[in-house]
Amino acid sequence: MQTKRVLVIGAGGREHALAWRLLRAAQVAEVIVAPGNAGTARERGMRNAAVAVTDIDGLIALANNEQVDLTVVGPEVPLAAGVVDAFEAAGLRIFGPNQQAAELEASKTYAKAFLERHGIPTAAHQVYTDLDQALAYVRQRGAPIVIKADGLAAGKGVVVAMDLAAAEAALQDMLEGSSMGSAGHRVVVEDFLAGEEASYMVVADGLDYVALASSQDHKRRDAGDQGPNTGGMGAYSPAPVVTAAIEQAVQRQVIEPTLAGLAAEGRRFRGFLYAGLMIDEQGGIKVLEFNVRMGDPETQPLMMRLDDDLYALLHAATNGDLAGRSLKWDPRPAIGVVMAAEGYPQSPRSGDPITGLDVTQLGEVKVFHAGTALLDGEVVTAGGRVLTVCALGEDYARARALAYQRVSAISWPGCFCREDIAHRALST
Ligand code: AMP
Ligand code: GLY
Repeated sequence: MQTKRVLVIGAGGREHALAWRLLRAAQVAEVIVAPGNAGTARERGMRNAAVAVTDIDGLIALANNEQVDLTVVGPEVPLAAGVVDAFEAAGLRIFGPNQQAAELEASKTYAKAFLERHGIPTAAHQVYTDLDQALAYVRQRGAPIVIKADGLAAGKGVVVAMDLAAAEAALQDMLEGSSMGSAGHRVVVEDFLAGEEASYMVVADGLDYVALASSQDHKRRDAGDQGPNTGGMGAYSPAPVVTAAIEQAVQRQVIEPTLAGLAAEGRRFRGFLYAGLMIDEQGGIKVLEFNVRMGDPETQPLMMRLDDDLYALLHAATNGDLAGRSLKWDPRPAIGVVMAAEGYPQSPRSGDPITGLDVTQLGEVKVFHAGTALLDGEVVTAGGRVLTVCALGEDYARARALAYQRVSAISWPGCFCREDIAHRALST
């Protein structure tokens, strides 16, 4: 019986994909997305509520007024602000980590110290607030080297400096400039790691967890992994670099000690735990970062492949009842191509009408919205990452062809995408 109402907090492609998959669960009648985007507004069975992700009182009032059975949090900002603590104090069921556990993402210095404390593999690092000391360290350590702003910077607080001049400029900018705001007043300087990146996410409750399929993101703006870092220009699942042996090593060396370490430190973790990994040629694994939420755009291809009841799983997690559970996945790979607005990531233009959205949709293809809005009934751009166009295929080549075929039918002035999403999977 479809009687349950779910609230998804967020406005991105990740939230559209989570809401879309939740709506397919046996018990779910309706999904409300706050604040949502044009895609979630137009989806049958979904509606938007105009409440900002940072308006915690407003979100609680919404969940109460709409008699929401389960709330799922998309982005990190409300988690770091304590939305889960506030919902639980109000007696509302919510899936996500509490404020203390969310520090694993909100503070890179906390995360790095945590990793070292628990012997979880990660790059060697130092923390600085003083520019001269930081400069002295990078000059002694040499390039390439990586500079990270401590706080939340929407995926844009990391500079991979290939030479000393770039490292020095990044330190100047973060510690003395104002481009990162207070997020940049403390920096982590860490060793550069070579290898291939992968994303590994689990649904966790304390020590128990259910693994999601592996995936891989494309963080640089331009083809061939060139250009500035972005929030992610495309993703696919599974990631061939995550073999069965690597997956087992990730669970033993990263996921389990992380959940155990958090529990031991009184920060029991309930929520999506995302490990950003670097995997070297010998199969060695290091943690690049933790997120306390699903990845965006990785969620979009993952939700295409998930062939199971997401509501039942997340509901079980909020009851502490994950033990013995697992998830079924479509064996076919899925690819998601981000279509971005001109100027992304620095200063995306917005307000452009999008054409080509209303063509007949194949079952294997889905366009998830991110930065879109409805203006007089028309879908217009309203952010940097505008859409994630996803497709399932018998193999990566077929999934990619289907996704790009759909991309080619959609346009607005200045739109662009990377043409090489899943290039690593296709070359293996
Ligand atoms: P993060 O937000 O920490 O995941 O960093 C963003 C991106 O910067 C990562 O996805 C990597 O591509 C790159 N990166 C971060 N740390 C390192 C590192 N230690 N070595 C090489 N690349 C890195
Ligand atoms: N796609 C990377 C992230 O969500 O942080």
